[in-house]
Amino acid sequence: MSQRISGVKGMNDLLPPDIEVWHFLEARARETFRRFGYQEVRTPVLEDTALFVRSVGEETDIVGKEMYTFEDRAGRSLSMRPENTAPAVRAYIEHAVHVREAVTRWYYLGPMFRYERMKTGRYRQFWQMGGEAYGSAEPAQDAELIDLGLQLIHGLDLPGVRLELNSLGDENCRPAYLASLTAYLRAHQSELCAECQARLERNPLRVLDCKNPKCQAVVAGAPAVTDALCRPCQAHFEAVRHKLDAIHAPYTVNPRMVRGLDYYTRTAFEFIADAPALGTATAVGGGGRYDRLVQELGGPSVPAVGWAMGMDRLCLLLAESGKREEAKPELFVAAADAAAQDEAFRLVSELRRSGHAVDFDPRGGSLKSQMKRADKSGARFALVLGERELASGDGELKPLAGGESVRIRLDTLGAALAARLR
Ligand code: HAM
Repeated sequence: MSQRISGVKGMNDLLPPDIEVWHFLEARARETFRRFGYQEVRTPVLEDTALFVRSVGEETDIVGKEMYTFEDRAGRSLSMRPENTAPAVRAYIEHAVHVREAVTRWYYLGPMFRYERMKTGRYRQFWQMGGEAYGSAEPAQDAELIDLGLQLIHGLDLPGVRLELNSLGDENCRPAYLASLTAYLRAHQSELCAECQARLERNPLRVLDCKNPKCQAVVAGAPAVTDALCRPCQAHFEAVRHKLDAIHAPYTVNPRMVRGLDYYTRTAFEFIADAPALGTATAVGGGGRYDRLVQELGGPSVPAVGWAMGMDRLCLLLAESGKREEAKPELFVAAADAAAQDEAFRLVSELRRSGHAVDFDPRGGSLKSQMKRADKSGARFALVLGERELASGDGELKPLAGGESVRIRLDTLGAALAARLR
């Protein structure tokens, strides 16, 4: 036997029947984005490495340790996207979308790549769905996106997901906050992990994000960013909260939440689910405002805000609650002999052409084995074709979950099925 080749570590195959959970999630997501007026974009999986270095930030774990980066055959440094906010901004600028419309609302679904330590809910290829809105600096835009996230989670019928909210300030008030944070952290330098001791000077906000318990103990006493906001940032934060209160959106303010990406200004938020199915990977989504990113990537000065959710994690929660979009046939057609097999094949093709989900066993075989397969398929009805049915043009539509069979004319089978499935 030849040697078996395994899939890449941390990258999952999504197979039936589990894929039905994904279909459920994707259908609900698309429907929710449509209701909110967000349109789908699809950007390439590969981007210029510089895009992520300049947006997500050189000092972040994502760029520093987790990117799949390589040189292509022409010697360009490319990276597999670890997230989709920067690629969407790149496309927004490249296609001069701001010239066409003042406000743009986009969404995406797709695989992202981060070379992370794997555990439940944390993979190296994972899926995100996200929404991004460009062109509005108003708090109503932040609140709309949060409402979109909450309505999506509600539509998935996932209780127990909470929203944490923060404001990270802007270029006016953040420098002073960073200075006081740095001073505090310097005073506790020896209590920090080696990595945070180094981070402290280069990017002190990242220390707030460190998962090391020693660092977290120091962070607990650190100055809160919400106490250091300038007046306009404070007013913005209050207005976002006011809008969320008006729609009864529940949230808690967490002044230590900084997110793991550098591009945020003002509003930042996370959707957290403390469910056993997720282990410690409790963040099902996160996002915030990034008013400077479009300009920093060479575009016009256009404010923006967005979020992304981890689809793998949402699917773990959905699988627990039994939610899925089932793909079961309406009818299974079995054939008693070779002559009936030809007719069954023709009938199945015709029913499928007119829109019905119909199955049969291409291997033929005994009626007993075909009926076993019919049961396994989960079909609502079965129909057996044999000599008698071919001669009379009639057949018995048998409900597989039990109940009386009904005689029908084979040439009205489509209508008979439709009437019974209604
Ligand atoms: P993020 O917090 O890095 O934000 O990722 C968003 C979500 O993706 C996380 O909350 C988590 O559910 C999921 N996720 C991240 N890494 C993994 C992984 N290794 N395995 C499974 N799921 C994972 C962003 O990516 C930003 N681009 C969000 C955003 C959009 N901000 C503004 N617009």
